[in-house]
Amino acid sequence: MAVPAAIAHGGAGPGPSRQTNVEVSISRAVEILEAGGSAVEAAVEACVVLEDDPVFNAGTGAVYRTDGSVLLDASLQTSDGRMGFVIAMRDTPNPIRVAADLLDEEINGLAGDGAREWADSRGHPKAAVEGRPPRPESGDTVGVIARDSTGALACATSTGGTSFRPPGRVGDVPLPGSGFWADHGLAVAATGVGEAITRSLLSYRVHDRVISTGSSLESAMHWGVGELIEDDVSVGLISLSSEGPGSGHSNTDMPWAAWLG
Ligand code: GLY
Repeated sequence: MAVPAAIAHGGAGPGPSRQTNVEVSISRAVEILEAGGSAVEAAVEACVVLEDDPVFNAGTGAVYRTDGSVLLDASLQTSDGRMGFVIAMRDTPNPIRVAADLLDEEINGLAGDGAREWADSRGHPKAAVEGRPPRPESGDTVGVIARDSTGALACATSTGGTSFRPPGRVGDVPLPGSGFWADHGLAVAATGVGEAITRSLLSYRVHDRVISTGSSLESAMHWGVGELIEDDVSVGLISLSSEGPGSGHSNTDMPWAAWLG
């Protein structure tokens, strides 16, 4: 039996004012894990809490693209080798649920109108997402990693995309190894400016540093943010392994919260 655990962040940049909101998300994960729920269920439902909270740049509160559209990305990966991700989805308040629905499909990822059509075929709610104007500090995307009593991990991320980006732009959140990576009993999720995270393959390389060199989670995250990312670019990471507590690290104010059962 593993000790259940969860960790969530509210993005690189928004600071302590969002701490309570992130803790509400962790409370949802705790509720599910203490009731014997799976890591997938806990990560997804805790992520839904953040997507439904209009202060975050994900789901309901996602920032407009430069053409005024609201386009959502989300991803989910499990430590047993499953993955789902969606890119630039319209009219989908909870894209993380669509990503979760892809876990057991032959395809891993869907984008744009095709993603929405597939979501329609699965009965996922379709509704206009209000969104909000972009702002300089809107790296405040969201992520949750959960571990259940079997030791299984699930890593969920969701975003409206970094502010001031055009409608066709793809950020790190739906790109495996960039915004997320989970295998070998370790999960890492990133937040911040997607281009820098993608260029550095940040989540995978931090994960690999732990697995290949035996580095601690904390020192691998410090290395990743300090050595792989330019000084003036806001980025943050959270991580959780199949043992022990989760941990977060950022070069800016990143609200994060963790729970160990
Ligand atoms: N990190 C979110 C994005 O760049 O889209």
